[in-house]
Amino acid sequence: MAFPIQRPRRLRRTEALRRLVRETRISLEQVIYPLFVTVGSGVQEPIGSMPGQYRWSLDRLAPEIESIAAMGIPAVLLFGLPADKDEEASGAWHDHGIVQEALRLIKQVAPDLLSVADTCLCEYTSHGHCGRLDAEGRVMNDPTLELLARTAVSQAEAGADIIAPSDMMDGRVAAIRDALDDHGFDHLPIMSYAAKYASGFYGPFREAADSAPAFGDRRGYQMDPPNRREALREVLLDVEEGADVIMVKPALPYLDIIREVRDALDQPIAAYQVSGEFAMIKAAAANGWIDEQRVAIESLTAIARAGADILITYYAKDLVAWGLQR
Ligand code: PBG
Repeated sequence: MAFPIQRPRRLRRTEALRRLVRETRISLEQVIYPLFVTVGSGVQEPIGSMPGQYRWSLDRLAPEIESIAAMGIPAVLLFGLPADKDEEASGAWHDHGIVQEALRLIKQVAPDLLSVADTCLCEYTSHGHCGRLDAEGRVMNDPTLELLARTAVSQAEAGADIIAPSDMMDGRVAAIRDALDDHGFDHLPIMSYAAKYASGFYGPFREAADSAPAFGDRRGYQMDPPNRREALREVLLDVEEGADVIMVKPALPYLDIIREVRDALDQPIAAYQVSGEFAMIKAAAANGWIDEQRVAIESLTAIARAGADILITYYAKDLVAWGLQR
C-alpha cells in the first residue's frame, strides 16, 4: 500500500504529534560532563579552543561541582593537569595527584555525583605519550600496564566511582581489573575507551589538557580511522577482559561503529562527543552559520539514535540551560 493511502506527513503536522511518535529521546540522566582540574589556587582558566570550558583549581572546583550536582548532571569525567611531568607519569598514580585530590573533594562536596576517572598517562608523561617509551621512542605495551593499573588503584582509593582507561594498550582492562580486585575494588566498574580512534578531532583537548605528544603521534596505539571490523574486535576483547561499559570515541564521525557495537553487545555503550566535535559547533555558531542549540541537540540525539546509552559531552551544562529534563 502506498500513496495516497500512506501519507507519512500525517504524523508530522504538529509538535504534539511529532513528540508522540518520537523514536529517540535524550535525557540528562545519561550525560557525563568532562572537567579539567589543575594545580594552584584561584584558577578558572578559559580554554581558548573550547569556549565555556575551563581549567579549574581545586578551590574553584568545589563550588563548580556543587552547581553541577544541583543542576542534576549525574556524572563528571576528570582529567588532570599535574604540577610536574616525568617519564614514569608519577602525577597519574601519586596518592596526592591532582585527580586523586579532586576525587576526594567531589566525595566531600557532592557525595551523590558520580565521578569517573580517566585513566591514562599522556597528561603526566614528559613526552606526552600514553605509556613508557623504549630507546626508539615507541610506546612499550606491557611495561605500561603496570603504571595504568597503579593509576586505577590510586583513583579507586581516592573515591572514583568508575575507572575509564583511555590509553589503548593491549590487555589494559585485564590488568586494571586484576589490580582493582586485588585491592578490594571488585565492585568498581570499568568503562573502557574500547574503540578509540587516532583522531584529528582531539585537537582542542590536547590544548586543554596540555597532552599533545612531544614527537610523533598516537597512531601506534589508537585505532586507524578507516577500520570497522577491528573496532568490534577491540570491543569484544575488552568485554572478555572485564569491561562493564564500552566506549566509542569520537562519536558523530563514528556513528556506524556505535551502531555496529550496539547490535553486537548487551553491555551499556558510551559515546564521547569529543573536543573537536564541540569546537566545530561552537565556531560555526559564533559565526552565525548554524543554530548552536539545535545542532548540539541534533548531534547528541543522533549519537543516541545510533545506539549510545551514555553521552559524554562538553554541552552538559548547556543542555540544562536549554531545558533538557532528567
Ligand atoms: C587521553 C584522552 C584524550 C581524550 C580523552 N582522553 C586525548 C587523546 O587521546 O589524545 C580526548 C577527548 C576530547 O578530545 O575531548 N588519552
